[in-house]
Amino acid sequence: MKLLITGGAGFIGSNFIHYWLKKYPEDKIVNLDLLTYAGNLENLKDIQDNQNYKFTKADIADKVEVNKIISEEKPDAIVHFAAESHVDRSILGPEEFVRTNILGTFNLLESARQNGNIRFHHISTDEVFGSLGPNDALFNETTPYDPRSPYSASKASSDHLVRAYFHTFNLPITISNCSNNFGPYQFPEKLIPLFITNLIEDKKIPLYGDGMNVRDWLYVEDHSSAIDLILKKGKIGETYCIGGNSEKTNKEITYKILEIMSRGEEMIEFVEDRKGHDRRYAIDSTKIQRELGWIPKTNFEDGIKKTIEWYKENEDWWKKIKSGEYQNYYKNNYKNR
Ligand code: NAD
Ligand code: TYD
Repeated sequence: MKLLITGGAGFIGSNFIHYWLKKYPEDKIVNLDLLTYAGNLENLKDIQDNQNYKFTKADIADKVEVNKIISEEKPDAIVHFAAESHVDRSILGPEEFVRTNILGTFNLLESARQNGNIRFHHISTDEVFGSLGPNDALFNETTPYDPRSPYSASKASSDHLVRAYFHTFNLPITISNCSNNFGPYQFPEKLIPLFITNLIEDKKIPLYGDGMNVRDWLYVEDHSSAIDLILKKGKIGETYCIGGNSEKTNKEITYKILEIMSRGEEMIEFVEDRKGHDRRYAIDSTKIQRELGWIPKTNFEDGIKKTIEWYKENEDWWKKIKSGEYQNYYKNNYKNR
């Protein structure tokens, strides 16, 4: 099988490529990524010379470029991770979110359609469903969309386009809406890696508002195994919700990280809340568990310990990000190939 992965140099995409090549070493992977600030080829350093892996720098918002790559590569399936993914950035500058998340997804769908109706899996988020109150039922596949940030609105829009291509053009699609991921290679602007790396550097950790917003956390490897099952056994046209069944307030996460890293609460700095900050996300993943037999392997406690360990052992990786040096990696290692 040959997979075209978009956004494979980012957090979840690079974890997925590692997962896939380990489990299916005979398969071929083409990684199409623009290498925005969030794309880092150092995430894939260990496989860059693997004969079954190829990297192509391209912008999914450029339809000519996208179509050229897809028509030449002729993948059996496209797994679409590429996106602008950080809510705070979408508040500061929404335009890139519309360009990449909506226009980029549209270009990929069009190209999949024009090149023989290629199997298409779209990676989305639970944030499209909006914000839950403390006693509301969990999100599931039938929850109405109610996005509230430019990020979630752009992802919701892309989900609608993907579904429209199934109904209108019979494009063989599936969609997954996943909760918050954590684990190795997550860019240190997101809550967990930001707090871990700040503490290693002896810097304060900025907790938004009252710290009582709730997210449902999933270890990234379990997200990869869910996508694997959907690609192999998922029903065409269907959506699958993926979550860790692990709701935590940001305060709980903060105290857990402080405890494991033997630091005190004086490291917390309560800062101004995010604009329109969604209060609670939580996912009911009964459908994928029942229909595809998905079982997440890593609970939050083990996952967070492994993640802290990884950031301690890979200071070089995140220090290069914090200093900006990682952006030279492509130039130094790929440019002249
Ligand atoms: P990320 O920001 O770490 O990585 C995004 C990748 O996409 C980067 O490598 C970047 O270079 C690439 N990219 C961005 N714009 C591009 C463009 N125009 N053309 C080509 N490549 C481009 O994101 P992530 O956290 O790995 O998220 C991956 C996907 O999973 C996204 O679609 C996101 O919405 C979704 N998701 C993320 C989470 C989470 O907790 N991180 C949860 C649920 C769903
Ligand atoms: P984040 O990792 O940005 O993911 P998302 O907003 O997509 O869920 O944030 C997770 C939660 O942590 C969210 O409620 C916002 C909060 N947060 C902080 O309190 N401080 C921070 O510095 C960041 C980045 C997030």
